[in-house]
Amino acid sequence: MSIIKTTAELEAWLGSMNRRDKTLGFVPTMGYLHEGHLSLIREAKAQNDLVAVSVFVNPTQFAPEEDYESYPRDIDRDYKLACEAGADIVFYPEVDEIYIPSSSTAVEVTGDITKKLCGASRPAHFKGVTTVVNVLFNIVRPDRAYFGQKDAQQALIIKKMVRDLHIPVEVVVCPIVREADGLALSSRNVYLTPHERSQAICLSGSLQKAEDYLSSEADDCRSAARLIKIIGEHIQCQSLASIDYINILDGETLEDIEHIESGRKALAAVAVKFGKTRLIDNRILSI
Ligand code: PAJ
Repeated sequence: MSIIKTTAELEAWLGSMNRRDKTLGFVPTMGYLHEGHLSLIREAKAQNDLVAVSVFVNPTQFAPEEDYESYPRDIDRDYKLACEAGADIVFYPEVDEIYIPSSSTAVEVTGDITKKLCGASRPAHFKGVTTVVNVLFNIVRPDRAYFGQKDAQQALIIKKMVRDLHIPVEVVVCPIVREADGLALSSRNVYLTPHERSQAICLSGSLQKAEDYLSSEADDCRSAARLIKIIGEHIQCQSLASIDYINILDGETLEDIEHIESGRKALAAVAVKFGKTRLIDNRILSI
């Protein structure tokens, strides 16, 4: 097995695998793999005969002022980790391989689901994500594709796109992998200074506070506004934290909700900047 860089090589590999009686799981990533990514690869391996992992830092999902150029990259390390976790191939294409030079097509999911949360602060981001995931699905043609709950909004959008466009792929969403102190793993955690890193645990801590209040007997324990306030107060205790958003929305559609309703999932989601590093975290709240 080696790193596959072109669609032609990938096509040849798919052909050689006699796929008719085998299932293919696919894990799209931007690389700099950590345990979160590896958990998706392991899950894909457990559920499928073959596993393909892509490593592609997708330029169209970064705004001009964002970290596309400096995004951490280490394909040799990624390749080794992906293989150890169960990948059969690692697809590592150049930008021109994914976006043919004359390409002028994009795929966009519209509505609340893409406008809220990260869509509000990163307006072109999800259009870049859905376009590249579509291109990758068309090249790899997997039976199942694996995404992390860490990027809860991304997972909901991909699921919606797959439903809306009748894409013949089963989307599997896997749990958030965290450090021992609660910080969700992210390729961007490497940007944090030790001081920022020590304060960054307030994200998961704040979501835990909301969960605790929801389980309390307080009269307003189901109020989204009250829970948002609790999350905000916890994060604001950290001197280096600058809040991008805190919200509690319907867990499927991302529509606004006033209360957590029995039997209906709500998504509590936060995005907080520490210096130049923007971190996100979320938790499903339900009663
Ligand atoms: P990337 O940030 O590399 O993440 C790849 C996949 O790993 C995503 O599905 C993400 O949700 C999942 N992941 C990241 N951190 C995780 C964690 N701590 N626990 C569990 N899963 C985690 O998301 C992207 O790349 C891109 O937008 C992509 C889908 C590849 C399109 O370019």
